[in-house]
Formats: sequence, structure tokens, C-alpha cells
Amino acid sequence: MSKVIRKLFRDNFLRRIFAPICITIILTIILKNATLKTTTTKPIVLDALLKQNSPLENELSDESIKYTTKSARIDLNATLETTVRCVGSVYNQSCLFENLYYVDSTFTMLIVKGKPLPEHSVRTDAFIFSNLTPNKREFDTYVDLQQFVRCVIQPKRFPYVTLHFGQPWHHNIGHALFDGLYPAYVAMIRFTPRHLYPFRILAGIDTCNDCWSEDVYSRFGGLGIIKHSVLNKLSSGRWYVFDEIVMGSGTMCQRCTRPDLQLAGGVELDASRLFRDRMYQQHGFLPLTCRYKSSLEHRKSNDILRAYVVDNKRFTLDDRKEINDAIEEINSYTYSYIHKMINNSNKLQWPLINVTYIHYQWIKANNDSSISTDTTAMDSRSPTYEINDNNFIAQLKLLRQMDIHITGPGTGQMYQTFLSDGSVSINIGGIRPWAAEGTPKAYTSFLEQHMTSGTPYIKGLYYPINERQKGIRKDEVVKLIRQAGKIILQGFSLPVNPRENLAPDGQLFVEMCGKDTKFCDSVTIRTANQLYVCIDLWIEDLVHEERQWKEGGYLDNGRNLSCPFNRTLLRGLRKKYGIKYRGGNSSKSI
Ligand SMILES: *[C@@H]1O[C@H](CO)[C@@H](O)[C@H](O)[C@H]1NC(C)=O
Ligand SMILES: *[C@@H]1O[C@H](CO)[C@@H](O)[C@H](O)[C@H]1NC(C)=O
Ligand SMILES: *[C@@H]1O[C@H](CO)[C@@H](O)[C@H](O)[C@H]1NC(C)=O
Ligand SMILES: *[C@@H]1O[C@H](CO)[C@@H](O)[C@H](O)[C@H]1NC(C)=O
Ligand SMILES: *[C@@H]1O[C@H](CO)[C@@H](O)[C@H](O)[C@H]1NC(C)=O
Ligand SMILES: *[C@@H]1O[C@H](CO)[C@@H](O)[C@H](O)[C@H]1NC(C)=O
Ligand SMILES: *[C@@H]1O[C@H](CO)[C@@H](O)[C@H](O)[C@H]1NC(C)=O
Ligand SMILES: *[C@@H]1O[C@H](CO)[C@@H](O)[C@H](O)[C@H]1NC(C)=O
Repeated sequence: MSKVIRKLFRDNFLRRIFAPICITIILTIILKNATLKTTTTKPIVLDALLKQNSPLENELSDESIKYTTKSARIDLNATLETTVRCVGSVYNQSCLFENLYYVDSTFTMLIVKGKPLPEHSVRTDAFIFSNLTPNKREFDTYVDLQQFVRCVIQPKRFPYVTLHFGQPWHHNIGHALFDGLYPAYVAMIRFTPRHLYPFRILAGIDTCNDCWSEDVYSRFGGLGIIKHSVLNKLSSGRWYVFDEIVMGSGTMCQRCTRPDLQLAGGVELDASRLFRDRMYQQHGFLPLTCRYKSSLEHRKSNDILRAYVVDNKRFTLDDRKEINDAIEEINSYTYSYIHKMINNSNKLQWPLINVTYIHYQWIKANNDSSISTDTTAMDSRSPTYEINDNNFIAQLKLLRQMDIHITGPGTGQMYQTFLSDGSVSINIGGIRPWAAEGTPKAYTSFLEQHMTSGTPYIKGLYYPINERQKGIRKDEVVKLIRQAGKIILQGFSLPVNPRENLAPDGQLFVEMCGKDTKFCDSVTIRTANQLYVCIDLWIEDLVHEERQWKEGGYLDNGRNLSCPFNRTLLRGLRKKYGIKYRGGNSSKSI
């Protein structure tokens, strides 16, 4: 790398002779700019976002002013030197680099010798357990540095803020959003108020022909998306410079288990809400109804609540039938009220709920093909791109009107962040181990409980943990949906306590993490020398002592894989939280 620079420098040796000329030019520019300096540059602010009641609002003072005026960069003090500022613990820190250079697929800092730098290595990818540290190139004086930049490398500049992260599984919208975009946005929130403005995304993603998450990234940021692989190809011997680039989010992913079992930043930085609100705004929606203290705000007791059961690949044919029967029972009650068979609202036995069964892949944008629009060969992209809805927008439109969201685990859980304040998410559960339905081994699996506990504006309900292995039962579903309706209309208080948004096994984990810190570190600290199967934790597997959590572990290609923890403690906690052990033999009870 530095060899390349040296070569470049040598090749350009002749130009150094002309350096005095170059410097004169620079000085002229600087002086000219100095006289322009008094004209104030009006900040380009996304009004709607600033109008929101952000708890970060009072932090928008000095930083905000400095930030908004700097975009035009007609600044006497503008420097070409790389600077860096980092926030967070060393393990999960995010860094904001200014004037970060890029050449030959490598981030490069240009600094004046002796300049102290903070620890600035960052994790950029949720599933690559090593840190990124930009290369450094030092100059004796700032004048040397400036000359190198202006006269030698002449970089192409990426103005404004860029957000960088990698996400190899972006074909799956759940990973694309919550192992890639969301944690990166948390990093951006740490450098408030940048998270409220448009930014560019530099995405480490694979080449993919049908990954519509790329468009979600692009719209969410607002300034488009650069693919890292493309930049790498084009940066061979060519220099680029990022005005500002934020990175460092790989340990804040959705799959990054935390001791408190919360989606990183969801509660402590209000990031779930900020992410949700920006997602709606960037896709052309008005702000959601705000509920601050209670789910009852802006509701009446005889409102018809809208509940949606989201299809899940884990549902069996029987499960689907039971769910349908439950929907019928609830809806017929609601319709009978509407048709005046019950005519005294005070005497309502149950909340009025309209339940619909949906498949996300069937939710399509309205597409009025009768209107033809003019296109030309010069269009930078479809002229209706900014105007028409796409299918993701159609999904968001549905999500924002849900009062009750019902689905099994997996990708289906990943949209609950987009629910509005004071709604309920029912995790109807699934079965693990995979395909163990109907066997004595089957146990209840809720998987992504951390999504619910990290979303303090919704309340999570769970299918009874000791019942789910029998398959989904109509009566339980009816009970859960009615309970959801009841608590919404009684007014559950907001924000919801994160721990109360966990199922019994999730609560068990949080307690266990507090008491067995060695175990806790081994499942929450993602480092390259950690056994991956221990980090790849699903709480239900631990609780039922399956595979890597089984006594003696399991053999994988002749390798013995097991993760250490205090088994006595786990067994005691299982009793405390009333979870029936399903470790393969129903007769055996530990
Ligand atoms: C330029 O830097 C000097 C010294 O750090 C400072 O006093 C001055 O306010 C800065 N000017 C601008 C326009 O930022
Ligand atoms: C970063 O890590 C520290 C402890 O190492 C933790 O307290 C904090 O919550 C983490 N921040 C985020 C946003 O995840
Ligand atoms: C409405 O309520 C009254 C008395 O409360 C009752 O007599 C009547 O049958 C009810 N039903 C309808 C359909 O009006
Ligand atoms: C129930 O929801 C469906 C689907 O959204 C809608 O078509 C129907 O009109 C709703 N019924 C009532 C009574 O609100
Ligand atoms: C809308 O319909 C047109 C013509 O039928 C089609 O080419 C286009 O891809 C559709 N757009 C969307 C977003 O479905
Ligand atoms: C794995 O290793 C442990 C000791 O570390 C041993 O007790 C256990 O029997 C081994 N399991 C298998 C499946 O070989
Ligand atoms: C394991 O947990 C039990 C129950 O909490 C405790 O008594 C015991 O000391 C723990 N063992 C170790 C090795 O920490
Ligand atoms: C289940 O019980 C049978 C018979 O008692 C035994 O052979 C088998 O090893 C047990 N399986 C597990 C996973 O404990």
C-alpha cells in the first residue's frame, strides 16, 4: 500500500518542482474564500425530522449549527487532514472520520506527524469478527500534506456524510435491515444530528440480482448507495476522499446477543423509534400518531382494532387451520356488534378486533398501468421512482395501521419495529429443534425476543411457553388476541419495561447472564477466537440443553462442540421461570 503511494510520489516528483506554483494557487483560493466567508450558507434541513419530538433535540445546538453550515465547506479553516472522533466502548465503538481517503481498496488517513489519534479501529460487519483500521500516511508538515492532496493525488470527493457497513445476507430483508442498516444507523445517531439529514451509504454487499433491500438502503439514506466492491475495483491507483464517514456497528447487530437481551441502542438511544420514523419519512409517509404515556392516547374504547396474522413458514397445516378458526371467532363477534346484534357498547364483553391473515409477498403496490408517463434515454432513473409506491412501501402502509401484529419467529419478527406507539406484537412461537414438530423433543421457540424488548413503544405477548409444542391451538390464539386488545384499550403504559417484553426463557437468560458472567461473555462478545456456535445462541436451545448446550456437546466433523455454562444454575432458573424441560425424553425431568 505505502509502496504505491511512494511510487506515486516519485512519479510525481517533477510536479513537486512546481509545488510553489501550486501553493500560490492554493493561497489564492483560500484568500478568495476568506472574503466569501461572510455570506452565510443556509442549512439544508429535513424539516419534518427536526420537528419531531426527539429526546436528542437539546443536543442539536452547537454541533447542529457547526454541522449544517459546514456542508458547503467554504471555510477558512477547512483542512484536508484526516481527523477522527470515536464514541462507545472499544468493543462497540463507532468513529466519525473527516477527510478519510480511499485508494487501492484501502481507507487511508493522511495526517501530520505527531498528531495524537484516539483508538479508532472499528467493526464494520456483523459477521466478520475482525476490525478495520485505516492505513496511515504521515507528513512532516500540513503544507506537505496539502500539496500531496491538491497536486499529487487529486482525489474525487464524496461530499456530505457517508455511512459504511457490510452485510453479506442482504437477500433476506431481516438481515438486510437489522444486521446491516439498523446498527449502522445507531452509529450515526451517536454523531447527532447527522442521523436527521440525508446521507450516502457505502455498502459491503454481495452482487445480487433481486435484492430489493438495496433500494431500501438507498431511500433510507437519501443520497444513494455506493457498492464497496465497485469502489474497490475503481480505486486501483485512484484516490477518493470522504468528507465525513461514519463506521463501526458490527457488534450492534440484531444477531449480536446482549446481556440485557435488547436490540442494541433500541432503548438507550431511542434508536428503534428513530429508525422507524426515518424509514416512514424516507418512503413518503406522514409521521405516525405519537403516544407518549399510554397506549390509549388517541383511541376510544369502542374502536375496532386492526390485527394482522403474518403468515410464517413455520406454521403447519393444522396451525393454519386453528389460526383461521380463531380469526373467525373474533371477527364474528366484531361483525355481530357492527350489525347491531350487540347494541350497548358499555356491555362489550370483548374488545372489537378485525383480524386479517396476510402474506407479505402478496402485498403489492397499486400500479396504475393505465397512466403512461414519458421516459427519455436521459432519465437518470425511472421518472416515477420518487412518485410511485413500490411493494415495500405497500408493506409499510399496512404495518403502520396495525394495532396487533401476530407472527411466529424468524423474518416475520423483523418488522415489529415499524409498528406504531402503543401497539402489541404477539409472538405465536415455533418449534425447535427444526422439524421436531410432534416429537417428545419439541420445545417452544420464540427466537427474536430482543426485537421486542428493544422496542419500548410496543408490548410483546407470547404463546404459553409450555403449550406451544402441542401445536397452535385456536383457544390460545383467541385468548392472546383478546388480551392484546384489552391491554391496548385499558392503556398499557409507555415506554414498556424491556424485561417485561421478554418471554419467560428470555427473562431467564437475562438473569443467568447476570449470575454467570463467564458464560455471558462467551455468548455476547463476538471475537474471532470465540467458538462461533457459542455466539450463535438461541435461548431456547440453551434452556433445553440442545446441541452445543447439551452435556458433552455434539460432534461436528470429528470436532467436539460444546459451550460452557453453569448447568446447576440453568436448571434452577428453569424451575424458577416455570419452564418445563423438553430435553428429548418427556419422562426424564431434571
Ligand atoms: C479557525 O480556527 C481558529 C483557531 O482554531 C478559530 O479561532 C476560528 O474561529 C476558526 N474560524 C472558523 C471560521 O471556523
Ligand atoms: C456498547 O458497549 C457498552 C459496554 O461495553 C454497553 O454498555 C453499551 O450499551 C453498548 N452500546 C450500544 C449502543 O450497544
Ligand atoms: C338492543 O338493546 C335493546 C335493549 O337494551 C334490546 O331490546 C334489543 O333487542 C337489542 N338489539 C337490537 C338488535 O336492537
Ligand atoms: C376488516 O379488515 C379488512 C382488511 O383490512 C377490511 O377489508 C374490512 O373492511 C375490515 N372490516 C371492518 C369491519 O373494519
Ligand atoms: C407497474 O406496471 C408496469 C406495466 O404493467 C410494469 O412495467 C412496472 O414494473 C410495474 N411497477 C411496479 C412497481 O410493480
Ligand atoms: C466432548 O468433550 C467433553 C469434554 O470436554 C466430553 O465430556 C464429551 O463426552 C465429548 N462429547 C463427545 C460427543 O465426544
Ligand atoms: C453454579 O450455580 C450454582 C447455583 O447458583 C452455584 O451454587 C454454584 O456456585 C455455581 N457454580 C460455579 C462453578 O460457579
Ligand atoms: C431417552 O431415553 C432413552 C430410554 O430411557 C435413552 O436411551 C435415551 O438416551 C434418552 N435420550 C436422551 C436424549 O436423553
